[in-house]
Amino acid sequence: MKLYSLFPKGFWRRAKLATSAQTIQPGDPTLPQHVAIIMDGNGRWARKRDLPRTFGHEAGLKKVREITEECGRLGIPYLTLFAFSTENWKRPAQEVSYLMNLFYQSLQQVTAELHSQRVRIRFLGMIDGLPAKLRTMVKEVEAQTAANRGLNLNLAINYGGRSELVQAVRQLVKEAQEQSFAPEEITEERLAGYLFTAGQPDPDLLIRTSGEQRISNFLLWQTAYTEFYFTDTLWPDFGPAEFREALLAYKKRSRRFGGIKEGRVK
Ligand code: IPE
Ligand code: IPE
Ligand code: MG
Repeated sequence: MKLYSLFPKGFWRRAKLATSAQTIQPGDPTLPQHVAIIMDGNGRWARKRDLPRTFGHEAGLKKVREITEECGRLGIPYLTLFAFSTENWKRPAQEVSYLMNLFYQSLQQVTAELHSQRVRIRFLGMIDGLPAKLRTMVKEVEAQTAANRGLNLNLAINYGGRSELVQAVRQLVKEAQEQSFAPEEITEERLAGYLFTAGQPDPDLLIRTSGEQRISNFLLWQTAYTEFYFTDTLWPDFGPAEFREALLAYKKRSRRFGGIKEGRVK
């Protein structure tokens, strides 16, 4: 009998996670300042348990809370979560309306608590395309938490990177017409000022769960130099320990932004 079979399934992985978790300290200046997450795999998590997909979304919501709390604890200032894409409207109407209700109800339940923890909540996406009830809630939550200076939590709902760029260009052209400035005066900074993330740093780390290795129209502009971390873990199974593992992997990356490693001359 092999030694490792004496231990329950997942023992070594949990032990490894527990050890690595200790090496991440709150406030570590080498931690990412902005983490973005494509929370994928809720449906597959439910299917594996013979449950309807909606159970996967509910289980995924618990992880949103855990990861948000962990970011606050570690002092990571920006967290962006992809909750619903402009393409997700293609799903069955029943699933879409379940998700919209889930967003509404969870905002109703957690906003007061997040507000008391000084979390500033912002929404990235085409807010006008949301059901009226949710749209109103979104505006209220943004206004209520606008002065908070704790964790910046961005929730991407009805978000698509391409549509974000199109609406930015539309506003830019309008501004150009009104103030009659030349095309040469359009700079990267000026364009970025019209994105939903205006004024926020680009993500340093992007995590995608569930084994897919694609961007799915998320933060196309902002991820130009972001470090990517892919894991097979399904979102409802992704907890703080694995989050810390992703942070550790990030700390080991060498970011060069097109330059060369510091101090290297030859
Ligand atoms: C991610 O999980 C949540 C949303 C897109 C709303 P999925 O619902 O995409 O789960 P899978 O990819 O089908 O497993
Ligand atoms: C990306 O996941 C969107 C969210 C997690 C909200 P999808 O499940 O929609 O992505 P694809 O369709 O597999 O690319
Ligand atoms: Mg998916």
